[in-house]
Amino acid sequence: MKSGVSPDDRIDMKRIPAHIAIIMDGNGRWAKRHGKVRSQGHEAGAHNVREITEACRELGVRALTLFAFSTENWNRSKREVDSLFRLISRAMKKYANTINKTNVRLRHLGTLEALPEHASKDVRKCMELTKNNTTMDVCMALNYGGRGELVHAARKIAEAVQRGEIKPEDIDEEMIADHLYVPEHSEVDLLIRTSGEMRISNFMLWQISYAEIVVTPTFWPDFDRKSLYDAIVEYQARDRRFGGRS
Ligand code: FPP
Repeated sequence: MKSGVSPDDRIDMKRIPAHIAIIMDGNGRWAKRHGKVRSQGHEAGAHNVREITEACRELGVRALTLFAFSTENWNRSKREVDSLFRLISRAMKKYANTINKTNVRLRHLGTLEALPEHASKDVRKCMELTKNNTTMDVCMALNYGGRGELVHAARKIAEAVQRGEIKPEDIDEEMIADHLYVPEHSEVDLLIRTSGEMRISNFMLWQISYAEIVVTPTFWPDFDRKSLYDAIVEYQARDRRFGGRS
């Protein structure tokens, strides 16, 4: 598919959501349904990340944020956590050059320090390699929680107050947005959750204030280009009022 050309008659290319965020849910249920183990579900999910990233780039999406590992996911078995981080490392190494060649920049939301060293190293390397790219940002939420992100922002601002650089009354919404993990993408236009759960799960609490939410019953490994186009068609049919009137 050539970028900039509509891949689906139903999609208005002039109103593509600038920032799409996805809660990639349902890998475990997908695996169960196919008689596989959970790690195979995550593998199928990781494979799909490539397909959906490419589809978003072709559509002209500016930022794609993916919820890959939450601060709550540490509660899973060590075996599952280890296999997830091995998978993430492998994907970083395998796709770094493709990400770079397609002019995509990798960003990160969360705290990399707590990750197994191989995973944080591979993510950092890919971010360094792609740091000057300009077509689209893929923002990987890894060891990420929305409440933790707001605590992080509050601490940074409090430190600036303590240093005497700003006064408490200078704090406004713009300043908080500027202290999020990826300040350039502080508004989400379209939030997609796969596998039918009607929850936010501590994801981008600030950024989704005016996002349009699309929940699909499809498990993440089965969420293909057609599913993405369906979600965008639904988004384009919404009347976004941002609290005002249409
Ligand atoms: C939720 O499914 C999914 C996750 C906790 C992990 C998402 C990770 C990936 C898709 C792989 C990431 C890889 C890269 C390269 C970013 P679940 O396990 O909660 O599924 P279930 O609710 O059906 O059990």
